[in-house]
Amino acid sequence: QTQSAAGAVLGYLIGSLSFAVIVSRLFGLSDPRTYGSGNPGATNVLRSGNKAAAILTLVFDALKAYVPIVVAQRMGLSLDVQTAVGLGAFLGHLWPVFFKFEGGKGVATAAGALLAFDPAMGGLTLLVWLAMAAIFRYSSLAALTASLAAPVLQWHFNGVGVMFWGVVVMSVLLIWRHEANIRKLLAGEESKLGQKAAPKS
Ligand code: G3P
Repeated sequence: QTQSAAGAVLGYLIGSLSFAVIVSRLFGLSDPRTYGSGNPGATNVLRSGNKAAAILTLVFDALKAYVPIVVAQRMGLSLDVQTAVGLGAFLGHLWPVFFKFEGGKGVATAAGALLAFDPAMGGLTLLVWLAMAAIFRYSSLAALTASLAAPVLQWHFNGVGVMFWGVVVMSVLLIWRHEANIRKLLAGEESKLGQKAAPKS
């Protein structure tokens, strides 16, 4: 339990590195919280028109969950600790202590956590995202569908254990963070992937 608590705190601190903001600063771009959806995430950074910055945001936001979980695995730590580390990183991304608790929606960070938890389950979840994004071109719709698929895939591959509940918590929070996207999707007002930034809405 002490290990899980320590893992959660460490994961939270690493997850609090909001790479959308950090990478944008390094590239001399506007703060992603000031344009498009206002979300500090790779999808919104892409709306700046800078693909490299968006890809780096995506990769680093995923790695900040992936790397600490894999380190916990290599140290032989339990599934409880691995789950705590992953959840900590995810919560850090949503409510970053270093960025006034104004974080993102958790898609890239959840992807990193799922891939580390189980490459087969994470890989298939990623495939769901890619297929939905390729067909419909909405990043948010792809994320929402993938977050519904993730607990089902985790249950299928690994049963109902602590990691399953970790995945459920991430999915629920992720869907909740997409409330504005869901409203826009229903109203037919969601912007498509790669569409340049409109004034913050
Ligand atoms: O990664 C978040 C994505 O699903 C939606 O982002 O900027 O369109 O709200 P955004």
